[in-house]
Amino acid sequence: MAEATGNIDASSFGIDIPVSNPVYELKGSNNYDWGMKDRLSRVFNPTSGHTVMLAFDHGYIMGPTSGLERIDLSILPLVNHADCLMCTRGILRSCIPPVHNKPIALRCSAGSTVLTELNDECIGVEIEDALRLNASMMAVMVEVGGKYEALTIRNLSRMIETGYRYGVPTLGVTAVGRDMARDARYLGMASRVLAENGAQVVKTYYCEDGFETVTAGCPVPIVVAGGKKIPERDALNLAYRAIDLGAAGVDMGRNIFQAEHPQAMIQAVRAIVHDSQTVDVAYEMYNDLKDT
Ligand code: 5RP
Repeated sequence: MAEATGNIDASSFGIDIPVSNPVYELKGSNNYDWGMKDRLSRVFNPTSGHTVMLAFDHGYIMGPTSGLERIDLSILPLVNHADCLMCTRGILRSCIPPVHNKPIALRCSAGSTVLTELNDECIGVEIEDALRLNASMMAVMVEVGGKYEALTIRNLSRMIETGYRYGVPTLGVTAVGRDMARDARYLGMASRVLAENGAQVVKTYYCEDGFETVTAGCPVPIVVAGGKKIPERDALNLAYRAIDLGAAGVDMGRNIFQAEHPQAMIQAVRAIVHDSQTVDVAYEMYNDLKDT
């Protein structure tokens, strides 16, 4: 314990130096509380403002998805290359050793699988468990324009409400309703609806035409899913275009862990997302790294 007497007098008050009051630069995030900003800063690199999230939560609706049969063999070698891991609490506790110190985007909505009717979800993981797992974000799916729209917006709202109470951001995940086109008009509307309801980060899909209107119309950071597996160069092009048109990162799964060389792929994606490399350079990097 510090002594009460005999200490050096305090004198370094920097009288002529204005106290700095820096703006928190992540899109739309300046007015959050400290804990929420701290969690967001773990996900979004404060230097580039971007993130490479590795999504491997597919099993919660699909079971042992190709590339995720053995998380210990396929995902653990990728962990150190990711800025954030998006997964379920089941996989996190059973397969991911708590030594990597990577931020977690925890899948918190649950309720149906590909065998029945997708998107009929509830909040499956409450905030107490998210905090116990030291989650940096809680992910909730919303089906804008589908049968479960109202239900899933209620789920999102409830998670955001508890998230604000404890300083944990919510990642709103846009699930495209069965009859909806994945175009800029729809994705822009869905993303905006999630942000208006308070999602601090929105996950959506890239679209070829007008994606810049999706990002411009969304007041918080957008991360894009990779979607179904496509050739590696095309996936790198998707990441490049998304970032170039205003996305703050990728939340990519199958196009990384189903790539022929997943470790090379995630590093090539990083080069685009964080280092502004071109698709040509990133693809060359992929080809160089795959032989190492
Ligand atoms: C499903 C998800 C998945 O995490 C996401 O779609 C996975 O990414 P990818 O499409 O790149 O495999 O959020 O709702």
